Amino acid sequence: MGIGERDPHTGHMTTGHEWNGITELNTPVPRPVYVFLAAAALFAILYWVLMPAWPTGGSYTKGLLGYDQRAAVAESLREAALGRAALTKKIAAEGFDAITADRDLMDTVRQTGRALFGDNCAACHGREATGNKGFPNLTTASWLWGGSPETIAETIRVGINSAHPDSRTSQMPAFGRDGVLPRIEIENVVAYVKSLSEPQSARGHEAAVAAGRKVFASTCAACHGEQGTGNSELGTPNLADQFWIYGGDSETLVKTVWGGRQGQMPTWEARLTPVERKILALYVYDLRRRQ
Ligand code: HEC
Ligand code: HEC
Repeated sequence: MGIGERDPHTGHMTTGHEWNGITELNTPVPRPVYVFLAAAALFAILYWVLMPAWPTGGSYTKGLLGYDQRAAVAESLREAALGRAALTKKIAAEGFDAITADRDLMDTVRQTGRALFGDNCAACHGREATGNKGFPNLTTASWLWGGSPETIAETIRVGINSAHPDSRTSQMPAFGRDGVLPRIEIENVVAYVKSLSEPQSARGHEAAVAAGRKVFASTCAACHGEQGTGNSELGTPNLADQFWIYGGDSETLVKTVWGGRQGQMPTWEARLTPVERKILALYVYDLRRRQ
């Protein structure tokens, strides 16, 4: 086929190039493609002019609109911080009752409190505050010193058996090591203590449990209460529920009564600000409330 001939199959003109009987069709780039390319180029040029675009060594072309992503991010951070600061101020100013009744404030307590708890308390009490051996579960109704926000805040402020001058102090005496009770009485009182939370454990040990009840009344009740349910004035645990700091199996109970216990909770007065401690007290209080 020669130049300008029309290809009978496609209807296109040919370019006149031919290789071994194969001819090249003259199919130009369609117009819309040119239009699109031109529009894209125009957009790019406009964008360079209006927006930050080209690096210029130490700086960059700022664009006529003056848009700055860094400034936009800084602005939104500032707004978030302002919102948080306002809520934190409110938490610092309001009483515990007003805060626990306010959903927005409690949302802040839950978020900020979780972070504070993770950083400061989780190592001993566990990330979910459910405790570890020797470190009490803070999510149950079983309190040593009481579970109101005020008492929790005070416990956090001064600690337990800590170096703080106002520290809460408590000690489970070492009845065996100090020779206060003979081994057999310790075993009996342990059988009785175990029967408080596991009545079926008394079966077959009625004599020991009865003897242990007497030891308990004379030796333990002053601190742990007549029914063994604990005393939040003295920071003594409830021995009649399912929750144990050190363990409720006979072996651990004998160890506790033989050797005594004195758990230590640090004081946070110097390490956390008053509002941080308030948030933590409310956070711990709220964990319990949500069980
Ligand atoms: C070094 C370990 C340790 C750390 C860290 C720690 N605690 Fe404690 N905490 C204890 C121990 C141990 C006890 C129980 C003391 C006892 O057995 O008498 C306790 C008891 C408590 C109690 C009293 C519970 C009750 O039943 O009255 C509260 C509340 C508490 N901790 C909150 C916190 C908070 C909040 C933090 C973080 C700011 C924290 N603890 C960090 C070891 C720790
Ligand atoms: C002077 C007060 C006092 C007396 C008396 C006392 N306890 Fe305690 N007991 C405590 C305190 C305080 C604790 C908490 C210790 C801690 O958490 O570190 C405790 C803890 C315990 C625990 C550990 C509970 C757990 O959750 O692991 C057991 C068990 C216990 N006492 C049994 C007894 C028995 C049995 C007697 C009597 C033979 C007795 N206690 C007498 C103060 C006392």
